[in-house]
Amino acid sequence: MSTMKGVVLAGGTGSRLFPLTRVTNKHLLPIYNQPMVFYPIQTLANAGILDILLVTGGHSAGDFLRLLGNGNDFHLRHLCYAYQEGEGGIADALRLAEHFADGHPICVVLGDNIIETNIIAGCDEFRRHGAGAHIFLKEVPHPERFGVPVFDGERIVRIEEKPKQPKSNYAVTGYYIYDTTVFEKIRTLKPSGRGELEITDLNNQYIQEKSLRYSVIDGWWTDAGTFESLLLANNLVAKGGANKVEAAVGETRSQQAGGKR
Ligand code: DAU
Repeated sequence: MSTMKGVVLAGGTGSRLFPLTRVTNKHLLPIYNQPMVFYPIQTLANAGILDILLVTGGHSAGDFLRLLGNGNDFHLRHLCYAYQEGEGGIADALRLAEHFADGHPICVVLGDNIIETNIIAGCDEFRRHGAGAHIFLKEVPHPERFGVPVFDGERIVRIEEKPKQPKSNYAVTGYYIYDTTVFEKIRTLKPSGRGELEITDLNNQYIQEKSLRYSVIDGWWTDAGTFESLLLANNLVAKGGANKVEAAVGETRSQQAGGKR
């Protein structure tokens, strides 16, 4: 099957983190010793996905180019950029990846999601089937903050977005793999109560087609979009590292510092 491409979604206003995000994009804020956006990019690179589109928006879009350039720090093959006007939701941001995907399956990562380990097993499982969608779950203490799967035995029958009364203890994390039908599906979505095209509605379409699979992530996982989770992410990374970002990026940095200064 054709090579998987990667998409990092780093748009939105980050309004839950005001005033930290009043003059910069949430994904440029520090998580311990790296900007937040480094972690999702490294997650994709660690899974061997080296052709990546970064979707951003707002006032600080140019800063991503200054920070990431053409992705050399991560040994990427190619780093592209797209700009989301407004903040129409995660699936609205993903819409912008259609031309980039160009018929390839895509692995989508939310720009504020950080993982201790990797998503390699899920990518391999998707490749074995070659079609449909694959999502990554994690058991969490407060599932009501997230998309939450509803199970019938081992099968997911639907996903509920931020339910007041969650029907399982799992969160749908911000890592998703989709086949090429994803863009047709996005075109049929309608804005939710909060005025956004929801990734959960997209995943529910795959469930209706019986083509959504899942795996459970090993190690810790967190988003970093609220003050609490931002602090948690900083502490987790400081304690245990994540994705071996430091190993990969630190190496190139010291080479650059040695070579250029
Ligand atoms: O972190 C996992 C959760 O992410 C999932 O469990 C939920 O099902 C999913 O809806 C999402 O929930 P959040 O409410 O936490 O999403 P948030 O609005 O914080 O957006 C997450 C990332 O998506 C954000 O860091 C950047 C990107 N995004 C978001 C919006 C609304 C965009 O690129 N454009 C957007 O318009």
